[in-house]
Amino acid sequence: MNENSISLSTQHLVKRFEHFIAVDDISFAVQRGEIYGLLGPNGAGKTTTIRMLLGLLAPSAGTGTVLGFDIVRHAEAIRQRVGYVSQKFALYADLTVAENFNFYAGVYGVPRRALADKRRDILPSVGLAAEENTRVKNLAGGSRQRLALACALAHQPAFLFLDEPTAGVDPLSRRMLWDLVYDLAERGTTILVTTHYMDEAENCNRIAFIYRGKLVAEGSPHAMKTEQMRAAVLEIDCDPIEPALGVLRAAHLFDEVALYGAQIHAIGEAAGEKIPRVRELLLANQIAVKDITAILPSLEDVFITRLRSVDANGA
Ligand SMILES: Nc1ncnc2c1ncn2[C@@H]1O[C@H](COP(=O)(O)OP(=O)(O)O)[C@@H](O)[C@H]1O
Ligand SMILES: [Mg+2]
Repeated sequence: MNENSISLSTQHLVKRFEHFIAVDDISFAVQRGEIYGLLGPNGAGKTTTIRMLLGLLAPSAGTGTVLGFDIVRHAEAIRQRVGYVSQKFALYADLTVAENFNFYAGVYGVPRRALADKRRDILPSVGLAAEENTRVKNLAGGSRQRLALACALAHQPAFLFLDEPTAGVDPLSRRMLWDLVYDLAERGTTILVTTHYMDEAENCNRIAFIYRGKLVAEGSPHAMKTEQMRAAVLEIDCDPIEPALGVLRAAHLFDEVALYGAQIHAIGEAAGEKIPRVRELLLANQIAVKDITAILPSLEDVFITRLRSVDANGA
């Protein structure tokens, strides 16, 4: 990686709360213009990591830089140059869309006379041009989230931190948020986004899986699925599905047998070669087999398999 193109880096970042380790030795780097996703279940340590990167929380150990500034010594310089949509981004319910935007733009130092132009630039890109005078309490959740993003963009940050921006948001708003994220990244803004939606992780250039405070895997979504996944996946369409799960798990043919929508995913080394055995087993248990196909693993498959091996081996 070219030194000049790095927008963020951490080295062995740690956060302890009393005896609990919320972030455990995390090191990664994000390039300029990259969309980098932190993916992991609730409590994994994603928000704590972001709060340390923005100087809102002191690291217990380790170092980091954002836009070339040290996260401990130059936190103020970082905060001036980044946008942050936190999980609890506080909009003022009794104020209008324009008033909220003006407030946050002011906090970030945008001059008063520039506000109208800024609103004209940014509100249409989040689909709120017609809502300038609507009070936030009358906006749906998805629109609020889009307004939060607009507020975080008022000062044209070089780096945008989005913490679960689409949690509980309607599909249309999700689409709009992601379209805007692509646009921003294309124009050189670096994005660090957390999500627990696996399909959204596919939108990132690179992702890191965070689990119990540790970074357990990193790479592009494609590389994760093809290189890091030594095992293969069988997609099994059968009926009835519940007893089939039990039969397949009891047979110990795979590392993981899980329900995936209306089908079963069986994950394990050389899964493709086990298709005849699976068919035989299900038929012997009066389960009708509609289809069995070997497929490329989804990120969810990769994630589940990786977490199981972390749980089993502690690494
Ligand atoms: N201020 C705090 N004091 C004690 N524990 C905390 C504090 N903040 C977060 N934690 C704990 O650290 C862990 C990671 O939390 P968090 O970073 O919010 O996870 P995520 O954002 O991935 O859901 C959780 O177990 C959480 O309860
Ligand atoms: Mg969080």
